[in-house]
Amino acid sequence: MSLGAALGLTGLALEAPTLWSWSSLGSIAKADAVTDPFQVWDPAADQVAARLLADGSIPAVNAAWDSWRLNKDPLPSGMPDHLVSYLQQVNKLPAWADRSKLARAQTLYKRLSGYLFISESLGSGFLSTVIPREARSVYWSAGGADMQDRAAKTFTFGYDLHHEDAFDPEGAFITSANKTRLVHAMVRNLLPLSPQFQATTDQPSPISNGDILVTFHSVGTVAWKNMRKWGVRYWSADQEADLHAWQVALSLLGVQDRFIPQTWKDAEEQAEQMLWPRVAPTVEGNALAQMLLDAVAGLGTELSTGFVSEMVRYLIGDTYWRWLDLPADLAARVLIKANWPLYVAFREGLSLVAPSSFNLFDGFVRGISMLYLNNGSSTTHTPITLPSANRPG
Ligand code: HEM
Repeated sequence: MSLGAALGLTGLALEAPTLWSWSSLGSIAKADAVTDPFQVWDPAADQVAARLLADGSIPAVNAAWDSWRLNKDPLPSGMPDHLVSYLQQVNKLPAWADRSKLARAQTLYKRLSGYLFISESLGSGFLSTVIPREARSVYWSAGGADMQDRAAKTFTFGYDLHHEDAFDPEGAFITSANKTRLVHAMVRNLLPLSPQFQATTDQPSPISNGDILVTFHSVGTVAWKNMRKWGVRYWSADQEADLHAWQVALSLLGVQDRFIPQTWKDAEEQAEQMLWPRVAPTVEGNALAQMLLDAVAGLGTELSTGFVSEMVRYLIGDTYWRWLDLPADLAARVLIKANWPLYVAFREGLSLVAPSSFNLFDGFVRGISMLYLNNGSSTTHTPITLPSANRPG
């Protein structure tokens, strides 16, 4: 029996996404036009990646990248000239970036990082496994074979974005985002060579601007909703600053201004059109979710797999959680449902009474945060590197 049959997924029909109708009037470009972002990729980065692949310089580039970490670091030596001139053009904040909003986002992230790490690593990490295009790209790329390492690299991005120095010279986000943009460009060159990936894909090339926005909504827009739902202190200027940090992140990842939402309301409208109609279970996503559960539960949080799984359920909802076929733990489910809101209320000063499970949740938040602080490993930093091949086999 195939893995798909075993999971009961073979006959599942995916909901067909509707025709794209979101107007770029709601984007930071404010242009009155409707263009489908799922038909737009990143030619500048893709050409650089194609040349690196053709001339066999990926190992040398990865070695050179080791010393290129902070935003203030000069571009390292040992890279081909065409890569250097590409990076000289893109390795900076976009002209429209607002330093004061970014500074506010950095202060906000310092205060909210524990909540954000829970929402993003457990909620969005697992949500990504029910986004078919993302799940299949990740599964069939080199990183899909080692989810612990891949999760650690993704944590590097989240950690760098939510760091109090993120966009400053001492921060590392501009560098991390540029590395990630080139990893995606490399994947766009590599995955069309994978017969297994080709058998599942509905696109000429993966990771379009639209797909990156889908992921943004599954992470950033979902976190924005969670912070408000959980009653975390998150004023409107904070929310604006948070969105601005994401607008800059999307631009650094190669998303064009005409697709980057201008306000959270625009973002929400975009998410309604591009994220929620696209979620569905896949064989690849279910396999990744199991690996991710093992990776998170096994990485020093000292909590049972059942508890972590039920926290995922709390965050992504019953339907998606059931698709993933993760282990149930009734006692943990009841505890989380009753006590997570009390825990947040106490931490935020909205309640004077600490729930009896305060230490449990506090340890959990700290444990998940440590995954980010340690970048999911025992070393201090898991570098983002360019893949040079697809998943073996
Ligand atoms: C790699 C972040 C969107 C597929 C990465 C990496 C990061 C990252 C940090 C490098 C670490 C690693 O190698 O695992 C993001 C962010 C996104 C985004 C912040 C959007 C906001 C997407 C989308 C897809 C995708 C939409 C597919 C549809 C991949 C794949 C890799 C990768 C296949 C390479 C994995 C490997 O072989 O190592 N991404 N990503 N990503 N991403 Fe994304």
